[in-house]
Amino acid sequence: MSNALKEYLSLSQTRVEKALEDRLPSEIVLPQKLHSAMRYSVLNGGKRMRPMLTYCTGKALGIPLSALDGPACAVEFIHVYSLIHDDLPAMDDDDLRRGKPTCHVAFDEATAILAGDALQALAFEVLAKDPTITATAEGRLKMIMALTRASGSQGMVGGQAIDLQSVGTQLNLPELENMHIHKTGALIRASVNLASLAKADVEEEVATKLDQYAKCIGLSFQVKDDILDEESDTATLGKTQGKDKDNNKPTYPALLGLAGAKQKAQELHEKAIESLSGFGEEADLLRDLSLYIIQRSH
Ligand code: IPE
Ligand code: IPE
Ligand code: MG
Ligand code: MG
Ligand code: MG
Repeated sequence: MSNALKEYLSLSQTRVEKALEDRLPSEIVLPQKLHSAMRYSVLNGGKRMRPMLTYCTGKALGIPLSALDGPACAVEFIHVYSLIHDDLPAMDDDDLRRGKPTCHVAFDEATAILAGDALQALAFEVLAKDPTITATAEGRLKMIMALTRASGSQGMVGGQAIDLQSVGTQLNLPELENMHIHKTGALIRASVNLASLAKADVEEEVATKLDQYAKCIGLSFQVKDDILDEESDTATLGKTQGKDKDNNKPTYPALLGLAGAKQKAQELHEKAIESLSGFGEEADLLRDLSLYIIQRSH
């Protein structure tokens, strides 16, 4: 990881931890168990890659970080809700997440379902009313639309549905790509696009290039997740290694082999960099993030 990225990530990670904490209901507010479960799952050391993408896109567009706390938290809330539900016995049935027992293990299944539901609602509440968002009413509406699309049946939830119905089947490459673009790519794409929408005068051509970049890294992120599931270890990942194979999931390494999957991740990184060719050094953090995504160890 470049030194510039390391410094920026540490700065914005501290920033987003506080922003998330500030926007979560306190655990002394009723219903306490539900609020405890929400806080347990959000405030537990995720990489915060999606908020980082929102902030780094803002940097490329000259948007102050303070105007991006709301969108950054909104995408992370949706992401955490998706992880809580992804880990449920009815889905991937995982008991370890971010190095700690999953929400349904630490609490119970019903509480985990409700914590996910409530985090989803909170994400949209933040976009609708967070006072730090400086966009116009129309801008806010566009942000809400972008996040609903990325989250719903034609975004993350749709991808999860494809994932579950594909267990034990052989997907071909376009089918696998389609699944990954939805289950993981859509939310990563929204993390970038919410920043473009936070400012009124971003040219369409600029927003389109950023979207192109986001599509590439959204896919490379899940390709790398699949690779790590195969070749990393549980302690490093903070989630149980080898679950994809155990659950008979279609993945990039399963289809292309580890070397083929790594090649695919590298190609997507190169395409992401190409998409940013019209930008100067203001987009260097985005370039560094793309490389980090395919080189990360967890
Ligand atoms: C894991 O996401 C689930 C996927 C969509 C691949 P992350 O790897 O970003 O998980 P955290 O947020 O750091 O725990
Ligand atoms: C999850 O993909 C994508 C989501 C929408 C949560 P995975 O099932 O591969 O994520 P991990 O490996 O459990 O984090
Ligand atoms: Mg899954
Ligand atoms: Mg999973
Ligand atoms: Mg995985």
